[in-house]
Amino acid sequence: MFINYHERTRTFHLQNDKISYIMCVLKTGTLAQLYFGKKIHDREDFSHLLEGAVRSHSAFPQDGEYGYSPEHIKQEYPSFGTGDFRQGAVEIMQENGSRLCRFKYSSHSISAGKPSLPGLPAVYTESDDEAMTLSIILEDPACGAELTLLYTIFEDEGIIARSAKITNRSGSAMQLTRAMSLCLDLPDSNYEWIQFSGSWARERHPLSRRLDTGIIQIESLRGHSSHQQNPFVILKRPNTDESAGEAIGFSFVYSGNFRISAQVDPYRVTRILAGINPTWFSWKLDTGESFQTPEAVMVYTNGGLNKLSQIYHKLYRERLARGPWRDRERPILINNWEATYFDFNEEKLLKIASKAKECGVELFVLDDGWFGARRNDDAGLGDWVPAYELLPDGIAGLSRKVEDLGMKFGLWIEPEMVNPDSDLYRAHPDWCLHVPGRKPSLSRNQLVLDFSRPEVVDHIHGMLAKILRESKVSYIKWDMNRSITECYSEALPADRQGEVYHRYILGVYDLYERLIQEFPDILFESCAGGGARFDPGMLYYAPQAWTSDDTDAMERVKIQYGTSFCYPVSCMGSHVSAVPNHQVARITPLKTRADVAFFGTFGYELDLNRLSEEEQEQVKEYTRFMKEYRRLIQYGTFYRLRSPFKHNESAWMVVSDDKKEALVGFYRTLSRVNYHFSRIKIQGLDPDMCYRVNDGEAYYGDELMSTGLIVSDGTSGKTGDNILPPSDFFSQLFMLRAEDDINL
Ligand code: GLA
Repeated sequence: MFINYHERTRTFHLQNDKISYIMCVLKTGTLAQLYFGKKIHDREDFSHLLEGAVRSHSAFPQDGEYGYSPEHIKQEYPSFGTGDFRQGAVEIMQENGSRLCRFKYSSHSISAGKPSLPGLPAVYTESDDEAMTLSIILEDPACGAELTLLYTIFEDEGIIARSAKITNRSGSAMQLTRAMSLCLDLPDSNYEWIQFSGSWARERHPLSRRLDTGIIQIESLRGHSSHQQNPFVILKRPNTDESAGEAIGFSFVYSGNFRISAQVDPYRVTRILAGINPTWFSWKLDTGESFQTPEAVMVYTNGGLNKLSQIYHKLYRERLARGPWRDRERPILINNWEATYFDFNEEKLLKIASKAKECGVELFVLDDGWFGARRNDDAGLGDWVPAYELLPDGIAGLSRKVEDLGMKFGLWIEPEMVNPDSDLYRAHPDWCLHVPGRKPSLSRNQLVLDFSRPEVVDHIHGMLAKILRESKVSYIKWDMNRSITECYSEALPADRQGEVYHRYILGVYDLYERLIQEFPDILFESCAGGGARFDPGMLYYAPQAWTSDDTDAMERVKIQYGTSFCYPVSCMGSHVSAVPNHQVARITPLKTRADVAFFGTFGYELDLNRLSEEEQEQVKEYTRFMKEYRRLIQYGTFYRLRSPFKHNESAWMVVSDDKKEALVGFYRTLSRVNYHFSRIKIQGLDPDMCYRVNDGEAYYGDELMSTGLIVSDGTSGKTGDNILPPSDFFSQLFMLRAEDDINL
């Protein structure tokens, strides 16, 4: 791994064994992008890659040489207004009303390791030899702004983390109206764009289309990263599949409004931009002040989509998630939400907990409804005081009683919200986001607290920290159940209202940081009406996230499959719930529900007392199984094998680092009659090892990877052991274990 700077040609080359990222400073001072892709040899001069064409109707800066129109230069951090007619990365409103800025190279420095971004989530290193960072300073003397671009290359994989900082060095105030985290200009547009879209209860379904002239853009303007779009996009070559081919990932480490776009110009150059959504964004910079953008993480691979995902999984699992839970097997939990909703008292909860304990469950989580006047979703949010009429000894008492059962205790909170019918709102009606003189919109009967105000964050912190100090809480589910509207803060002046969305998220990050610092052993799980904030920003604070409110097994196969393109199994909250399923009313076998939930953190979301004795025995077995294999599942290498979006049958798997153990999950939506045989090609095995499948037949790794594991519908004949019974919503696990003494 190195970062080379060639003085004569002013060329930067970031390189490791996998990738090269090359830029150069043009005569105009502009920082130009030359190459991002598979590793290539270093050389002094790459300027032939500039392709600076002379074309009609272009505009040319007078300080450069003819031919370098900004319109035709692949740039690192472009701005609109001086001849580049594409979308820009930065825009600054100056005192004289001009929005023009044009940054020119000033200096750079190279250092080992990676700096943290104050107040913001970011990937990190544990020792300086894991990464190198290039910091390039550019200036626009005419407007007095300074720009610092950070590029970190990691040692082993094709990862580049980027961010930008804008500093006001002029004598007067300026308004930043656009500050993207990343711009990447690629020399062609022969890509498919894959985004991860959906809505409540069907998050992160992959959706792909070819790039073509014009703009494709995904965004959130909901104040959270959203159910609708995830801050992650993949560009892949048309022939790239799961196991081979070029792909580039763009992941934005942020939990608020974002935008990721691809703009293809008439000459087939593709510009990718990722960052805070410029809509309703502005940031006032007084002299000497800086604005640091959040981070964006780009990954390049030529090893296919599974490889791309595996790079993100490892990075986000090991160098984004933090704290003692980062590397620990996750506790098997039971959550009372779908078991009771708001209808509970202590006796009922302890009955659920006791049965769960009997079934081997390790953690009991009390969901919504334990505080203030919160007997339904009309009231009480904001009043983080136990409801003693339900819990006579409060949370302190209940948590002790749960611990006495031999389980850990977890608690649901929704710190960012307030019901108008609450003591908090009555005391501080100005503490919610609203525009004076207008009634704020309600969503789920609640308003959003103004987390851009430190005193609001302090107050909520005080209430929550009190409970956590007094009680034995080992886990927190931090929810966020509405989108932001009327985004305005009474505490900020008119010229700072464009800062509220971002300040809000900074307030959320601040509260998280204070709580995880004070209570480092608590396992945090983020949630936002299911998966509306399933983003890398959250993973920095909470190493797991509730994947979706949809707990139906077949819907979950799709949601977890889509989620896996960026996010590791260890962070996906996944529970077995009751049937008929509460979201889609589908009845799926208990085994199928467990076989899907195993590929996540695993838990239960139902009252186990309501299951038959036979089912309770099954639950004990599933719990035992998960305890035995959760290290493999949560920390092994994950592969998608067959897509539920394209097939009636789908499959995924995990394999251990030593390749001696692998677990394949196979799911069939509908049963079919007299159907063909099907082969699931396994991945990631050692070709020379022999694997016994479910303690039965054995096969060489290369056979399992090349010919596949044969599964067949029950009515279609017989081959091997894998005859599947004719039933809908069927699942099967295949445990592959390498054995030394098999002779085939
Ligand atoms: C959200 C969550 C659910 C549950 C409810 C409680 O919808 O996603 O899991 O916690 O809130 O109100």
